[in-house]
Amino acid sequence: MATTSTALGELLEHSRSLIRSLQHPSGAYPASPTFSAYRGYSWFRDGAFIADGMSAVGEVASASAFHDWCAATVLRHAGRIERIIAAADAGTPLPDNEMLPTRFTLDGEIGTDDWWDFQLDGYGTWLWAVTAHADRHGLTQERWADAATLVVRYLISSWSRPCFDWWEEHVEQVHGSTLGCVIGGLEAAVAHQLVDGELGAQAAAAASAARVFLENRLVADGHVVKWLGSSAVDGSLSALVGPMAVLDPSSGLARQTVAAVERELCVDGGVHRFLGDTFFGGGQWPLLSCFLGLAQLAIGERGKAQRMLDWAVSTVTADGSLPEQVSRHLLDPEFEQEWIDRWGTVATPLLWSHAMVLRLAAEMGEA
Ligand code: BGC
Repeated sequence: MATTSTALGELLEHSRSLIRSLQHPSGAYPASPTFSAYRGYSWFRDGAFIADGMSAVGEVASASAFHDWCAATVLRHAGRIERIIAAADAGTPLPDNEMLPTRFTLDGEIGTDDWWDFQLDGYGTWLWAVTAHADRHGLTQERWADAATLVVRYLISSWSRPCFDWWEEHVEQVHGSTLGCVIGGLEAAVAHQLVDGELGAQAAAAASAARVFLENRLVADGHVVKWLGSSAVDGSLSALVGPMAVLDPSSGLARQTVAAVERELCVDGGVHRFLGDTFFGGGQWPLLSCFLGLAQLAIGERGKAQRMLDWAVSTVTADGSLPEQVSRHLLDPEFEQEWIDRWGTVATPLLWSHAMVLRLAAEMGEA
């Protein structure tokens, strides 16, 4: 199933313009314009990867506007962040519901709808994405520096706390991909001199402690695991190899993590989030196929990456939209209808899916 260059070209063009047209005047990227449970919200995780995809295909102004929104949002909540840091420093960390949320309204406010909010990964991913964007396009980082400093201090104070993972699951665990995103963000902030001096040294020390934890405690059978004590993988772990390179792509740890995701979670090119997933029956996520493709490309497996891109492109709907997941291979079909009844049909379009196709195509030299 090789994608024709016309099909790919059309999808790439549509993806850029869709993301651009749905970007809120504030700079926020909505996760999905129509899906009931996501409408009106922008996530640091989704958004950071969307901005990275847009940056990679030359949509500089759009990516910068998203980073401006992140910076403004962080500064708007500076008081809350200072309280979190002060409590952690005093040895009396605040409860999960007082930590930063994973998503904000498009105006940067904390929403009033219930969500599984305490997730640390997006803040690390934002630091990584904003430095990658500035580096890629030779931009000065000054306008993002104050917010980045606060985020670095937040992560230094709280990186070791258990929290919900990328999928709003298992708040009691320390997750491999969450920790990897935090490490990637702190290391990028130091390497690109978003922070320096005493704070730079503290950020480097926290990143190094987190890395020791990840590479020693969160490894089984030679690969990074879903969470402390598990031997399973999660589809999100690919991101630590490509595009984030938190795991050195030439290392055995990176290769074996990619191999484990292929073995456990990839069926015919479509990647599941994790074994046991029941969300909409536990289908395959095009954005995760793209992450796996980016990881395969990073370790030199171009043919495999091409197949991932082809599979992701094959999920496009008649009107050019990419969904959050498809139901070609469900892990637990019994749950599909239950989610449709609860939230409506699968989120389509999902901007993150569109952005990951852009990002993988760019890395393959096809965008
Ligand atoms: C996913 C998150 C994602 C959010 C918005 C949720 O269903 O679990 O990873 O950030 O949707 O796209």
